[in-house]
Amino acid sequence: MVASPVVDSRFRLSEETAIQLASEFGTPLYVVSEEHFRSRIQRYRNAFKTAYSRGKISYASKANSTLALIKIAYQEGCSIDVASEGELRVALAAGVPADECHLHGNNKQAAELEFALTAGIGHIVADSFEELALLDGLMTPAQRSATKIVLRLAPGVDPITHAKMSTGQADTKFGFNIADGSAEKAAAKCLELKLNLYGFHCHVGSQLLDPEAQRSGGELIAAFAVDMKEKLGFAAEYLNVGGGLGVAYTADQQPMGVEDYCRLVVQSVIEALAGSGIDPILGQEPGRSLIAESGVTLYRVGVIKTVPAPEVGRRTYVAVDGGLSDNPRPALYGSKYTVERVAPNADPTGSQTVTVSGKHCETDKLFDAVELPSDLKAGDLLQVLCTGAYNASMASNYNRYPRPATALVRKDGSLCLIQRRDSWEEMLAREILPEGLI
Ligand SMILES: Cc1ncc(COP(=O)(O)O)c(C=O)c1O
Repeated sequence: MVASPVVDSRFRLSEETAIQLASEFGTPLYVVSEEHFRSRIQRYRNAFKTAYSRGKISYASKANSTLALIKIAYQEGCSIDVASEGELRVALAAGVPADECHLHGNNKQAAELEFALTAGIGHIVADSFEELALLDGLMTPAQRSATKIVLRLAPGVDPITHAKMSTGQADTKFGFNIADGSAEKAAAKCLELKLNLYGFHCHVGSQLLDPEAQRSGGELIAAFAVDMKEKLGFAAEYLNVGGGLGVAYTADQQPMGVEDYCRLVVQSVIEALAGSGIDPILGQEPGRSLIAESGVTLYRVGVIKTVPAPEVGRRTYVAVDGGLSDNPRPALYGSKYTVERVAPNADPTGSQTVTVSGKHCETDKLFDAVELPSDLKAGDLLQVLCTGAYNASMASNYNRYPRPATALVRKDGSLCLIQRRDSWEEMLAREILPEGLI
């Protein structure tokens, strides 16, 4: 059998566009392709609808909560998953109706819940007994009937992903454990308090390249729903199996196609529900797999330094004008990326293995052991693929660097900013010098 060629579905910039973007907006710069993002959502939605007619996609806005991107996700038919009052405020500012949003969080504060309830949030994914008590105390009678409550379950599934990205195992701060009876007690509590219990949720982990964990997560939450119908007479109207489908940060990472993935997830749920009479709306809330591959980061090469390195003989550090503060994922998760030179795109004489480092006061090997042309020099532009998710939304001001701007390549090829770079005024705006110090 001839192996089917691996298709690289990641957005990348042409040399011409990269040069134009860098000169208009500076570097480091996040860049997102509108067309790529829209078509990722369309493909996911179609795949899910084909696998299950009552399938509903939410965009997990934590992946990238830039206002314009949330608006695009909503225009493309996603509801919006928010994990804080801040994300909810951005979704509302993007014109998303509150009842098209749902709120997550393992330690929601009373003020956050009040804000969401007053705005008219679609549903709240409750995570603890404390939260159920808080909701019981906060809700007006109208809110009690209007606001749907979904219970986050910890199904006890341990996915193959980075330990910091797995959330569905038993030892987790998220949700109600099924195996130890907490989830059943939580469902009973909702009914006792006459909260508007709508269904159940689980999210087993992120950047899943092996879908087995997601399959068993779907099976377990559906089996739990059947159990609750038998024990409590509660028929779930809604089940949500979270997000998690992985993406190709590097060419050797090949996630399952979204069509197969949706079929697998749906099948696991349907089989477990068979004969129960439960016919729920089924939700998924992907973030990374919708936006990651639609984005790149542009950096400009600065200092190049070759030093003795005991493990590898000699190491060449290629310093770029960003780093840890615009992409903390290598430091947090040891994440690998694909780094390419975009300009000048002269034929290289060969390639060299280098470590691309940031400019922060850290030994941040931002992108270790990457192949770049041997004639690489200061001033060249690099693009790092697949940075649309969990980069801009995780950026910081460490070392007081301004967070980068985000540019959008519009469908017609035109370029515009959708988030500008931090300004120096903003950097100082929160500072207070107490009188005695002056
Ligand atoms: C509850 C929940 N839903 C959805 C997501 C989105 O996951 P991903 O970006 O891997 O699709 C996450 C990510 O951590 C999550 O915690």
